[in-house]
Amino acid sequence: MNDNKQTRFILVVLTIAFALLAAAFSLDLFGKPAPVHQLPLVDTELLKTETWRRSYADLVSSKAELDAFDCYACHEQGKKQVLKYDDKQQLVIPDEHSDIVMGHGTHGRNNNCFNCHDDSNLLQLQPRDGRALKFEQSTMLCGSCHGPTYRDWEAGMHGRTSGYWNRTKEGADKGDFDGPFKKQDCVNCHNPHSPKFPGRQPAPPPNYLREKHDTPESAQTSH
Ligand code: HEC
Ligand code: HEC
Ligand code: HEC
Ligand code: HEC
Repeated sequence: MNDNKQTRFILVVLTIAFALLAAAFSLDLFGKPAPVHQLPLVDTELLKTETWRRSYADLVSSKAELDAFDCYACHEQGKKQVLKYDDKQQLVIPDEHSDIVMGHGTHGRNNNCFNCHDDSNLLQLQPRDGRALKFEQSTMLCGSCHGPTYRDWEAGMHGRTSGYWNRTKEGADKGDFDGPFKKQDCVNCHNPHSPKFPGRQPAPPPNYLREKHDTPESAQTSH
């Protein structure tokens, strides 16, 4: 056989071999198809990004029901509200406010209504330093007693900041937190009357694309 013939022979053999392999692969003669396993859908509850509580400011901007904040629908204007205590010196919550459960700190350290509300103007909040705050300014009230947490919140380490990291972007430099840069108020996450953050179910772990037992660790040892 001369060189030319030999080359042609090898090419023909190779072509036939590859054609056979292609046929074998397309008919899937070797191996089994990977099992397709059904991925459970993500619980849509876990995808929600809004906070679990709506502050007074949120209620105003969404034009929601504000009856609970209409203090003078029931109270007499100009009259000082007096707190009632039982014989064990525990604050008595009247039936009209039975939806309020006081539990601010361990041993009810901060349950006195007028540590926060103004006793002669119920529509105002009253921090220690004598400022008169509106309901939508409640974060400053919290900050008047929780200095370190407030400082962390301002720096973005406590609570939640959404939008641009770069504060020179739209809205951020106006100082009113308009636009895409938004900080959540303390009362979006903490109930002012019982601020302990309620425990929550953690989100499930990620789904593996393969069978459940085929974790990266088991794959490493078995292959
Ligand atoms: C549905 C009617 C109603 C509304 C609205 C209402 N109150 Fe009252 N509140 C009452 C009644 C009734 C009492 C008990 C009688 C009293 O002491 O005057 C009371 C008592 C209180 C007390 C004394 C609590 C205690 O333990 O002794 C405070 C403080 C108070 N209210 C604050 C407010 C504030 C602040 C608002 C608005 C943000 C408000 N209330 C809205 C009906 C109401
Ligand atoms: C630690 C501060 C603090 C204390 C103590 C406190 N409040 Fe409040 N309260 C607030 C703040 C802040 C808001 C507004 C919250 C918001 O924006 O959702 C509020 C809202 C309210 C409201 C209207 C909304 C609602 O939850 O019904 C009523 C009524 C009220 N407080 C009554 C009382 C009474 C009565 C007491 C005492 C038994 C009391 N508060 C003690 C801070 C306090
Ligand atoms: C008058 C001062 C005062 C104000 C105003 C105040 N707090 Fe407190 N807060 C306290 C004290 C005192 C404790 C109890 C600390 C302890 O028990 O060690 C406390 C405890 C807490 C805790 C821990 C609760 C727990 O049970 O672990 C949270 C969260 C909290 N406050 C959030 C807030 C928020 C949110 C506001 C604004 C609505 C606020 N506080 C306003 C004094 C205040
Ligand atoms: C986005 C939600 C969110 C916001 C906004 C927020 N907090 Fe909290 N806060 C939490 C969570 C979650 C915890 C931890 C609860 C736990 O560990 O059980 C917490 C814990 C706390 C505690 C308990 C002590 C500590 O530091 O661990 C205090 C006090 C407190 N927050 C105060 C505030 C104040 C004051 C503000 C506003 C300036 C604020 N928080 C804003 C979610 C929030």
